[in-house]
Amino acid sequence: MIKKLIIANWKMHYGPVKAGAWIRAFRRERLPKDMDIGVAVPHVSLPATHASLGRASVPLIGAQNAFWKSDGPFTGEISPDMLKELNVTFCLVGHSERRIHLGETDEMVAQKAAALQAAGIQPVICVGENETEHKKGETLKIVRGQLTAALSKIKTSGTSIIIAYEPIWAIGTGNACTPSDAKKMHEAIRELLNKKFGKAGQTMRIIYGGSVDAHNAAEYISTSHVDGVLVGSASLDPCAFGLLCRSAAIS
Ligand code: PGA
Repeated sequence: MIKKLIIANWKMHYGPVKAGAWIRAFRRERLPKDMDIGVAVPHVSLPATHASLGRASVPLIGAQNAFWKSDGPFTGEISPDMLKELNVTFCLVGHSERRIHLGETDEMVAQKAAALQAAGIQPVICVGENETEHKKGETLKIVRGQLTAALSKIKTSGTSIIIAYEPIWAIGTGNACTPSDAKKMHEAIRELLNKKFGKAGQTMRIIYGGSVDAHNAAEYISTSHVDGVLVGSASLDPCAFGLLCRSAAIS
């Protein structure tokens, strides 16, 4: 059985001071033991986040982006090796906001995912269709295309990977994809993982993201083929996020 996973994605919120305060507040929350909980933090806030975490092992600390080279003339970029030095355990790749606002391509996503895997950091590969594609019924085709590209350089034997299915029309809109539609997509993604990776593909986590909150998290988490959730706006308040984690565990 795959252990469920809840990841908070702060996006471009919380510099070091506020990040440290969030972690200290979240450490006071009673949390379910039967699932993994992580938080994807802006790069500049990683050291403060770790400092506030102290010896606690929850939440797992992740980053939101990484470059694909380990060093060199790439002004402004951060490498997987640098993130490793900061004890980052996972890193988002190919979030739709990066694809839309920074022109990240499938090829870049593939390179980033492979570089993270090589550095021993779990890539959380984000895929999802936009509203037009959704309305045209192209969801499966788009997601398959994104995934096939993103997985092209991933090694079966390396650090395991996580897939996040995040329909763009559901992100930050309050218009979440229904659990039954998410289930259909997750089944299709699982099929693709099984085909590509064989046995290893059966245990890779596939999580859902897009307007997940304390009211609907439990429903997603208890849906078969949904191995967890990626939470944006509903993770910004540490107490509300704690409540979300608890609500998901009761299911
Ligand atoms: P949201 O964001 O929960 O605010 O919809 C999810 C995400 O972008 O990861």
